[in-house]
Amino acid sequence: MGKLEKLTDILSRAVSEAFAGCGYDYSLGTVVVSDRLDLCQFQCNGSFAAAKLYKKPPLAVAGEVAARLESDARIKSIEAVRPGFINITLTDEYLLEYLSAVNSDPSLGVPQDDSNKSIVMDYGGPNVAKSLHIGHLRSAIIGEAIKRIARAMGITVYSDVHLGNWGTPMGLVIAEYSERHPEWACFREDFDPERDELPILDPEELNEIYPYASAKSKQDEAFKEKAHRITFELQSRRPGYYALWKQLVSASVSDVKKIFGALNVDFDLWYGESDSDGYIPELVSILDSKGLLHESEGALVVDVKREDDKITVPPVIIKKSDSSSTYATTDLATIIQRERDYHPGKILYVVDKRQSLHFEQVFRCARMAELVPEDTQLSFLGFGTMNGSDGKPFKTRDGGTMKLSELIRTATDEALEKLRDSQYLSSDIEEIARKIGIAAIKFGDLSNQPSKDYIFDLGKFLSFDGKTGTYLLYTVTRINSILSRAGIDSLSDLTPSGIYSDAEREIVLDIILSGEAYQKALSDLAPSVLCDCAYNLASAFSRFYHDNRILSEEDGEKRTSWLALCLITRRVLVKLLETLGIEPVEHM
Ligand code: ARG
Repeated sequence: MGKLEKLTDILSRAVSEAFAGCGYDYSLGTVVVSDRLDLCQFQCNGSFAAAKLYKKPPLAVAGEVAARLESDARIKSIEAVRPGFINITLTDEYLLEYLSAVNSDPSLGVPQDDSNKSIVMDYGGPNVAKSLHIGHLRSAIIGEAIKRIARAMGITVYSDVHLGNWGTPMGLVIAEYSERHPEWACFREDFDPERDELPILDPEELNEIYPYASAKSKQDEAFKEKAHRITFELQSRRPGYYALWKQLVSASVSDVKKIFGALNVDFDLWYGESDSDGYIPELVSILDSKGLLHESEGALVVDVKREDDKITVPPVIIKKSDSSSTYATTDLATIIQRERDYHPGKILYVVDKRQSLHFEQVFRCARMAELVPEDTQLSFLGFGTMNGSDGKPFKTRDGGTMKLSELIRTATDEALEKLRDSQYLSSDIEEIARKIGIAAIKFGDLSNQPSKDYIFDLGKFLSFDGKTGTYLLYTVTRINSILSRAGIDSLSDLTPSGIYSDAEREIVLDIILSGEAYQKALSDLAPSVLCDCAYNLASAFSRFYHDNRILSEEDGEKRTSWLALCLITRRVLVKLLETLGIEPVEHM
């Protein structure tokens, strides 16, 4: 079977032909989904451009074009309306025919990309030796959703967690360990990994050591200097520091894997800043050979400012005066590494929007140094802050920064309480509460535009009604219950044979147009588009469910058609949820 063509493309072709048939340019016939679904399903606004080109009133053009399409059997009504729109509504038969094609399409109507260009995605970005906090939550949730959207569209994506593991924080931690445990062999100059033992790190100490060392460095100049020296020596692979560092990284990574795993976030590559180290000499030599590097106050820098800059864009520091590398150095070297390993069409970074200047500097420098071909996109999706109900960055009750593990626990506990309140008793109640808690957190985040700040309101996110993850999971369980009571096998490929109400027509349209939502979500880097799509579909389904007694319907054909509608609604909803990185539950 050939690829399923997008419905708006099919309609655009018909309308373009009508424009051409009336003597106007073919390209004027682009059809889009109507923004007033109460008036019509689709619309074409080409008559306005035609009016300018052909010096005629737009309404007249729209009238001529509409008249040519009246006999099209797929169209129920086509109208030219003031001041010149063409409004289109399709017949139920055609909607059902297209729905059936979606049902048998291997990608369930999601358009497939044929550009053959891969994407490297950089998200998550936890820092070794620092607890995962809610800033990393947003990166992980949004990044994971975008990765899954791209994959649903057939695009190859390499996801890289890009651990923060090679900068000053590492030096601070090692410096502090060296003051607390000077007897450890790893602090001796002549440490030999073959001969000497490494300490077993106490997880509690590992958790508190970075904040402690960081605070100390702000008051104790000598300690700060020591940490800088250690950072440099670590980057030069002094054996004892390097061995201790490896220990630190692996303890931290297994922690991160657990928490990200709980959020259904996973990575193909568990690289970190340190993995770019081998590419730094090459970076320096490229920058040098292109005459981009120069010295400034003992450091090696690249100027990236431009004349038309509205803000000050400082030079990129490649080597500090103590010869250590910076955050920018590792990011640039990582670009060389990614280009070599994957030659991607795009590298997408999902990072806090407060880092936008850093990425602007890095991208400019990468372009000047031609680290990637001209047509490789370097893009930065900067996300906003998750705030508490006071509108300030989200904190724990006692004012501390909220750790991710705590947040997940709180959400799970509250979901459990709600389930118990609703008299839900089942042996797997805890597992279900966990999934609801995660769905609430993730959907609550994803339903906002990434770049906007939003208020984290767990009570609202856990509500069974409204635009919440909980409501969507609940809708799926309702459908499960109908289908299981009707004895319908989930793999059955039944397809609806009729549309008996407005709510059903809405369901059908939402399903038919869900594929285009994936495309828009990816091009706008906005998973919220899929959240809207899932919510609209679930709401239409709820209306349908309330208005009808599906299981006791006597008209056999209607009943079967309704069950088929339940089936495909569930398939599409589950796919949307899974693409958002949210696991559905069987029952609740
Ligand atoms: N580790 C960084 C942080 O916590 C985020 C890393 C983002 N990715 C990157 N390639 N710089 O702020």
